[in-house]
Amino acid sequence: MKSTFNWGIIGPGRIAHKFAKGLAAVPEAKLLAVASRDEDRAKAFASEYGAPRTYRSYEALASDPDIDIVYIATPHTFHCEQSILCLEHGKAVLCEKPVAMNSEELARMINAAKASNSFFMEGLWTRFHPNIIKTKELIDQGKIGHVNFLRADFGFITEFDPTSRLYDMKLGGGSLLDIGIYPLFLAQYLFGAPIEIQSMAELSPTGSDVYCNIQLRYPDQKMASLHSSVVTDTNVEAEIYGSDARILIHSMWFTPGDISIYHRSELLETIEMPEGHFFEAEIRAVTRCLQQGLTECPEWSHKDSILLTRTMDTIRAQCGIRYEGN
Ligand SMILES: NC(=O)c1ccc[n+]([C@@H]2O[C@H](COP(=O)([O-])OP(=O)(O)OC[C@H]3O[C@@H](n4cnc5c(N)ncnc54)[C@H](OP(=O)(O)O)[C@@H]3O)[C@@H](O)[C@H]2O)c1
Repeated sequence: MKSTFNWGIIGPGRIAHKFAKGLAAVPEAKLLAVASRDEDRAKAFASEYGAPRTYRSYEALASDPDIDIVYIATPHTFHCEQSILCLEHGKAVLCEKPVAMNSEELARMINAAKASNSFFMEGLWTRFHPNIIKTKELIDQGKIGHVNFLRADFGFITEFDPTSRLYDMKLGGGSLLDIGIYPLFLAQYLFGAPIEIQSMAELSPTGSDVYCNIQLRYPDQKMASLHSSVVTDTNVEAEIYGSDARILIHSMWFTPGDISIYHRSELLETIEMPEGHFFEAEIRAVTRCLQQGLTECPEWSHKDSILLTRTMDTIRAQCGIRYEGN
């Protein structure tokens, strides 16, 4: 079994830069190639992160026999087609969140992964951050008593620009799919599958949701109140309320950071979390899966992505968020 893996990156944009820094921190991961529609962008990225090969087409990268795994970092609407392209060439795939535009696309991607017996995973880095894992541990240990409420938000202010990734429906624009996915992930990770979903959104002139408010109900008297917005600077905090205390995951809660435990407004304890590169933990988890020959990641499995995508489908239907062909 191999222990070191060659990575290719498709779409060297904003998040791919951060990801490449994470790759550099993992000795078992080597950045071999990058593909961009723009040759200069591919070359500049390759030279910045030491990738020896560049491609002007995604298909050429997918055909490179030396690449083990491809990281897909293009806007959401391309994830399905590009993941399937790579899977059909026998590559493992780590595809940025949201892994697909809807459940139908995700089913096709998982089928392609199964057909080629290849590793396939949605890249949700927050799942691997120590603050999130510790929060779940504390809850499971009963540290804050019986948990019944989660409140989490993710919002920032942007100018309306119909051509930007956040507003253009052809690129999967809107707060729900781009950032609402994080509070929804947290609710799912902590509470499981909701038994009731109620949501409302405000739409921009392009039809993208500028904010989305979501209430979820779970068995055992649990509820979650979640908010995403591209027109409001929110605290970007997550709070989990138990019968004895509450956990605050400090802002920006979806990135690595500390957590505190409060009883009402009294601070009981702050737990400092180890620092590290944002993408490192996710890349280490993927590496372990590849070393063990797994086709999905136990910490964020296909089933987990299916449930999260299905929840977002329901919210989109309730809020009237519609994408072309989706
Ligand atoms: N994990 C995280 O925290 C995080 C953070 C931000 C974003 N993301 C996810 O990462 C993905 C990319 O986001 P980003 O902000 O990095 O995107 P971006 O910088 O706007 O674009 C990334 C790449 O996608 C391709 N692309 C961009 N616009 C395109 C268009 N109109 N048509 C075809 N291809 C286009 C380009 O590839 P070429 O170079 O080939 O032209 C570009 O280099 C999204 O799905 C997003 O949800 C994740």
